Amino acid sequence: MFIIGFNFDEVIKFLPRGGVIAELGVKRGRNARKLFHELSPEKLYLVDPWAMDEDVGYAGRLTESDRSALVDYHREVLEWGKSGDRDGRVEVIRDYAIPASHQFPDKYFDIVYVDTLDSYDGFYNDLCTYAPKMKDDGIIIGDDFYDLRFRVNKGSVRKDGVGDEETSLCMINAANDFARDCGWELLVMTDEYKSIRRPPRFLAGKKDFNGVAHKVRDKLLRNAPWAIEVDDPRRVRQTMVVPKGATSPMDNLFFTRIV
Ligand SMILES: C[S@@+](CC[C@H](N)C(=O)[O-])C[C@H]1O[C@@H](n2cnc3c(N)ncnc32)[C@H](O)[C@@H]1O
Repeated sequence: MFIIGFNFDEVIKFLPRGGVIAELGVKRGRNARKLFHELSPEKLYLVDPWAMDEDVGYAGRLTESDRSALVDYHREVLEWGKSGDRDGRVEVIRDYAIPASHQFPDKYFDIVYVDTLDSYDGFYNDLCTYAPKMKDDGIIIGDDFYDLRFRVNKGSVRKDGVGDEETSLCMINAANDFARDCGWELLVMTDEYKSIRRPPRFLAGKKDFNGVAHKVRDKLLRNAPWAIEVDDPRRVRQTMVVPKGATSPMDNLFFTRIV
């Protein structure tokens, strides 16, 4: 895997256009809008339960106001998906990623963007469920490939609240276990700490399949301002630097660290 000096807004310019895409975990559709406008998909499926259950899984953790915000987001995304050039090309599915997967044939998607639950089981199972749904040269993009203690957007490191190391590293472990168990390869991860104060994302392709995913990797390597090869993507971590004279957490800087 390579770490590249690009954020996702830069990476998206190198992704294939006009394909069949799904986003798992949509919320208010910020990234969905980006995927649609930048990649002009033939079809974009947007899958999210938008708090359809009151007490199942992640929904059990939501407050009343979170839940009502999600219900509003669902309405907004539905309206957006029906209007303008989205009509007939955007399909909104109010369900969890795994049950929703049953409606898609195998080898169907060009790109699936996974941004559902920040938990080992949630991320691992969603990635593995959608692996057979991907075309051989499809690309799986995973969000939040980082140690959950590092709150990049708040400029701090959480001392508690995510539990033990296994819990805080669950996204890194789940992505690596998915790649190992499903025959995929983590090709690149982004560097977005400085440019947009965002945790890294990864792009994965089917292992040893020389298709679009690997061509995208090569184009990114040719165009990124820098790239660093990481032998073992399990060893990705973060570090936070507090600059001398810093007066606010937002002065703190984050970088990738390999242990
Ligand atoms: C971080 S937000 C997604 C943000 C969105 N990808 C963006 O960048 O604009 C996570 C979303 O995942 C949804 N979610 C939680 N569990 C899910 C599941 N099993 N399947 C699909 N979506 C899920 C939540 O309802 C929430 O809206």
